[in-house]
Amino acid sequence: MNNNLFQLEGQTAIVTGGSRGIGKAISLGLATMGADVAICSRDITKCKDVADEIERMRRKSLAISVDVTKPSDVAAMVEKVKNSFGKIDILVNSAGIGLVTRTDKLAEADWDKVVNLDLKATFLCCQAVGREMIAAQKGSIINISSMMGQRVAYGHAAYCAAKGGVDQLTRVLAVEWSRYNIRVNSIAPGWIVTDMTDELPADVRPKLIASVPLKRFGKPEEIVGAALYYASEMSSYTTGSVLVVDGGTTIGV
Ligand SMILES: NC(=O)c1ccc[n+]([C@@H]2O[C@H](COP(=O)([O-])OP(=O)(O)OC[C@H]3O[C@@H](n4cnc5c(N)ncnc54)[C@H](OP(=O)(O)O)[C@@H]3O)[C@@H](O)[C@H]2O)c1
Repeated sequence: MNNNLFQLEGQTAIVTGGSRGIGKAISLGLATMGADVAICSRDITKCKDVADEIERMRRKSLAISVDVTKPSDVAAMVEKVKNSFGKIDILVNSAGIGLVTRTDKLAEADWDKVVNLDLKATFLCCQAVGREMIAAQKGSIINISSMMGQRVAYGHAAYCAAKGGVDQLTRVLAVEWSRYNIRVNSIAPGWIVTDMTDELPADVRPKLIASVPLKRFGKPEEIVGAALYYASEMSSYTTGSVLVVDGGTTIGV
């Protein structure tokens, strides 16, 4: 077997939500395997910090300020990456937010905020980058969904609906774009230590840890292996799949 199947030398990637958390860890992981990576989020300073770290690894990087809920920002992001890197081989959609509110108290504006970012922006980025990949007849798209796309939790109506939608979007795109040699897959993380889970009330945390067979939250770096698998030739026969990385939480204790 070729032992270079995880190599990404000469590949270019866009990572939305690359400034922090899971997206940052995946960006650094892609660069470690040789990819040039565009770091995209609203906070340009944080994006630049990650881009600088990647350039110190002797890979090209770009920091792009983008609100992925805005189609014009997404279009500009794609143009900038094309102009700088010449092509887009890999797209990772990691930008996202969580929200815990029981549904009878959930404001319409909060539903829209979650669904617009976690689901609609994933569609917008897949579509804009997918068109480039169709022209190139090649690509790998990795959507970061959540175990909440498969199981449910109290107060997570908008988030569960959005993440379930991301997994279904992944499957549809895998079917539509397989003819163009584009693979589309999801990663469904469980509880991971990032700014998103820092917002959880302290008294909830021990209960959540008790629900994880591995008895701890995961680290962002523990999502990187799944992303490298999907980004690389190692997964050349895998499309439309959802890889759960949750310490066993979905199957239960
Ligand atoms: N942490 C978990 O336990 C967990 C579990 C399952 C799934 N996930 C999923 O993993 C993904 C990453 O989450 P995380 O835990 O790494 O969260 P995080 O640390 O809060 O990072 C969220 C990222 O999204 C970016 N972002 C937010 N709104 C944006 C917008 N409108 N346009 C562009 N970028 C935007 C943020 O950057 P800026 O603020 O600079 O824009 C940041 O880079 C999300 O899709 C989340 O649903 C997380």
